[in-house]
Amino acid sequence: MGSFPAVRLMHLPDTPDNVANFAHLPSPTCRRVWFSISAAGPSMRVGLTGSNTLVRASRKLSDKRPEDQGLNAVRRLFHSLVNGFQRHRIRSHGDTVSIDATTRLLRRFQIRFHARPDARRYVTIGKECLLNASLVFEASTGSIVIGDRCYMGVGTSIISRDAVLIGNDVTIAWGVTIYDHNSHSTDWKQRAKVVRHFYEFYGTEKCFSELDWTGVKAAQIKICNRVWIGFDAVILKGVTIGEGAIVGARSVVTKDVEPYTIVAGNPAAVIGKVSDVSPE
Ligand SMILES: CC(C)(COP(=O)(O)OP(=O)(O)OC[C@H]1O[C@@H](n2cnc3c(N)ncnc32)[C@H](O)[C@@H]1OP(=O)(O)O)[C@@H](O)C(=O)NCCC(=O)NCCS
Repeated sequence: MGSFPAVRLMHLPDTPDNVANFAHLPSPTCRRVWFSISAAGPSMRVGLTGSNTLVRASRKLSDKRPEDQGLNAVRRLFHSLVNGFQRHRIRSHGDTVSIDATTRLLRRFQIRFHARPDARRYVTIGKECLLNASLVFEASTGSIVIGDRCYMGVGTSIISRDAVLIGNDVTIAWGVTIYDHNSHSTDWKQRAKVVRHFYEFYGTEKCFSELDWTGVKAAQIKICNRVWIGFDAVILKGVTIGEGAIVGARSVVTKDVEPYTIVAGNPAAVIGKVSDVSPE
């Protein structure tokens, strides 16, 4: 399989960390590689399995967990040399993903391209965010833009085939799903065709790259500045959540939310208002 157009791939030794990170991937053709993305971002790991590309934050740069403290000096030196080299590469290659250098990517942060990405920008992330989410592209379309000073908890997934635009100072709890398309057609015959396609091609390049999206509705999601989304909430296609609005835990949001409004439930309904002025 050739390199993707917007990224440069290169092999590195199979360190125990690399092996652990990619052990769960299904394809026997999985290769462990590193690749460089965008300007100024931290170095990322990439595992390739058929057409699936998985990008994980490099632990060494962005995830200083207490258990990492036990690494011996030789390993640390090795990783700092490798990461330094990668950081140089990051500035010189690729524009698929752009992450501001001040943003912290936590251990569970990942970006997955299930289909072969085109040579264009898919992900843009601003300054001083703290992110533990998964960003997923199931087709070669889609776009995810995240502003400055956003927080996203673990288990939160943003899945894009159209566009997901997130403003500044947005707080998104854990377990939230933001899905800008239906994923399947409402016609069962079309779904059966898709399941057959998965059955035939799972783990191969064709699985997602040649998936038939006929009848699958998709529409942009916009989450404006200062929004707070509670845990396990679901935000469906076409929704705009207005500035400063709050979405209650486990809500399913199917319609637009007015600014500075609190919604909750399934489907989410208005339960209150908040002020845009902080008390003195
Ligand atoms: C159920 C679903 C498929 C319906 O999609 P759709 O036919 O495009 O429906 P629409 O978006 O046009 O919504 C129709 C109405 O149902 C409501 N609605 C849609 N999904 C809803 C949901 N999950 N919960 C409650 N109400 C919902 C909409 O608000 C709308 O209400 P209205 O008639 O008052 O305007 C879709 O909303 C959904 O849940 N998609 C996610 C599917 C999924 O889980 N995919 C992931 C992996 S397989």
